[in-house]
Order: sequence, then structure tokens, then C-alpha cells
Amino acid sequence: MTRFAPATFLSLAVLLPAAALADTSFERIKISAGQQLFDAECRRCHSPDADRQSYGPPLENVIGRVAGTYPGYSYSEALAKSGIVWTEAALRAWMEDTTGFMPGTKMRHVGIEDRTVQDFILAYLTSISH
Ligand code: HEC
Repeated sequence: MTRFAPATFLSLAVLLPAAALADTSFERIKISAGQQLFDAECRRCHSPDADRQSYGPPLENVIGRVAGTYPGYSYSEALAKSGIVWTEAALRAWMEDTTGFMPGTKMRHVGIEDRTVQDFILAYLTSISH
């Protein structure tokens, strides 16, 4: 078995953030902020991986998807029959006031009114939609 000296881990810990910072394009920063916000606000109920279900449906490829169509997930009737497409505008309205936007949905306790926070989360969701 290969063993690494603690110093190896230390230098990796120092070098990795430096490498990440080297790419300072605005879009990358938005995506990484969005990922952290997703982890804080969405991840307890949603996986970003298409093949991992959670309490809510996975959100990989959610941009442009017809609502309520992830195979095998048990949606509320309201969402399954809504016929909406997850555009940026629909996702903003959903994040802002989920039950107001869609009475009868079983997604609760999310109310993100801050447009900048929405921007970041949308940048992240776009980055995991192919
Ligand atoms: C407390 C748990 C919970 C949290 C937190 C949560 N969701 Fe949900 N979400 C759900 C559930 C449950 C559903 C299914 C709703 C239904 O069937 O009516 C859902 C559905 C969705 C859908 C519809 C997907 C589809 O396949 O049609 C989107 C989009 C979504 N959530 C986005 C988000 C985003 C973005 C966040 C974070 C800002 C978030 N959710 C936070 C529980 C949650």
C-alpha cells in the first residue's frame, strides 16, 4: 500500500485552492458560488446526479426539462400535470414562492427572493444540464 507523508497532503491542500483561483472567469465564480448555495439550500432534498434519487427528484439536466418527468420519481399530481418547462424564468418563480407558483406541490420550505442568489443557483443548475 502506498503511504503519503503528511507533508504531501499539506502541500496539496495549499496548491489546490491556488489552482482553482487561477481561473477567475466570472462564470466559473458564479458556478462555484451557486454550488455552495445549492449545497446549503437544495441538496438536503435533491441530488445533482441524474442516477441518484433523494427526497426530491435529481436536478441534473433540469434546465429545459418538462416538469414532473424524471422516470420513477413519485411526483405530486400538481407537478406531474403542470405541463411547464423548467426555463430560467420558471425556476426563478419556483425558487421564490414554490407553493404560490404551484399550489399542491410537495416541495416546501424554500423561498429564495434574492435575485443574485437565484442567479448563482441558476448558473450552477445550467452547469449540470447538458
Ligand atoms: C425540503 C425539501 C426540498 C428542498 C430544500 C428543495 N426541494 Fe425541490 N423538490 C422537493 C420535492 C419533494 C419535489 C417534488 C415536488 C412535487 O412532486 O410536487 C421537488 C421538486 C423540484 C423541482 C421539479 C423537478 C422536476 O423534475 O420537475 C425543481 C426544479 C426543484 N425542486 C428545485 C429546487 C431547488 C433549486 C432547490 C433549492 C433552491 C430546491 N428544489 C430545494 C423538495 C425540496
